[in-house]
Amino acid sequence: MKLSRKILKFTEPLTYRRGWRRAQRSIFPVPLQPMLAQIDPDRAQEIQQRYANSTAGYAKYADIQPWLKLNRERVQDLNLHRSAPKRVLDLGCGGGFFLFILKNLGHSVVGLDIDRVPLFGELLELFDVQRVVYKIDAFEPLPDLGQQFDWITAFSANFYLYHPAKKRWGTAEWDFFLRDLQHHLAPGGKIFFGLNPSYNGGYYTPEIRDLFLSRGAEVERERIFFENGARF
Ligand SMILES: C[S@@+](CC[C@H](N)C(=O)[O-])C[C@H]1O[C@@H](n2cnc3c(N)ncnc32)[C@H](O)[C@@H]1O
Repeated sequence: MKLSRKILKFTEPLTYRRGWRRAQRSIFPVPLQPMLAQIDPDRAQEIQQRYANSTAGYAKYADIQPWLKLNRERVQDLNLHRSAPKRVLDLGCGGGFFLFILKNLGHSVVGLDIDRVPLFGELLELFDVQRVVYKIDAFEPLPDLGQQFDWITAFSANFYLYHPAKKRWGTAEWDFFLRDLQHHLAPGGKIFFGLNPSYNGGYYTPEIRDLFLSRGAEVERERIFFENGARF
């Protein structure tokens, strides 16, 4: 790419924001070693070895180091490494990597997920991260979680896809969901979704993007951030 085009690309707001976040987290990465010292190394190794030859899609999570590094980026990008202790609910928490890091940084954490993948249960136990077993469904409120949260997050969680119909939630489903999340959010709370590309490659339809915006979100490609909760 020509230098002039590179410069132009860097000055585009989205490229600039992403570049700035990347730079910040690579200059001051939160150390993972003291966190790793909290877990049982023999158990971690045993889990890794047991899944080493597995062809299951989720087996990749048994090698915990790369996933901890990825989730450190998520934590730092949300500035949660520099924040006073918060109550964080992570939807579709998987093995609990994100919450494990947050817990080590002094936050109070709860995950929510279905109990389908035994490896995730084993990792949550290894990390000593609490999970509420629950399946998020369209037009169904979340269960009573016994507290409100300062942050509600979801990364690549896919609960907004209909299986096996290969359809994604529409605006009515998302609107119901956002309204329900508000009940679980403490005053001043924040919501963040890191979406996965959907069946056709996009992250959302123009209608869903408009809904996010109308409810007060900043939308940056796959990153949907409600800094002041969803607005109704
Ligand atoms: C690709 S994994 C991502 C896990 C984790 N968020 C991460 O980034 O490492 C997707 C997760 O979403 C969960 N999930 C999918 N559909 C869900 C639903 N309807 N309700 C709750 N969790 C769901 C899966 O069980 C799985 O743990």
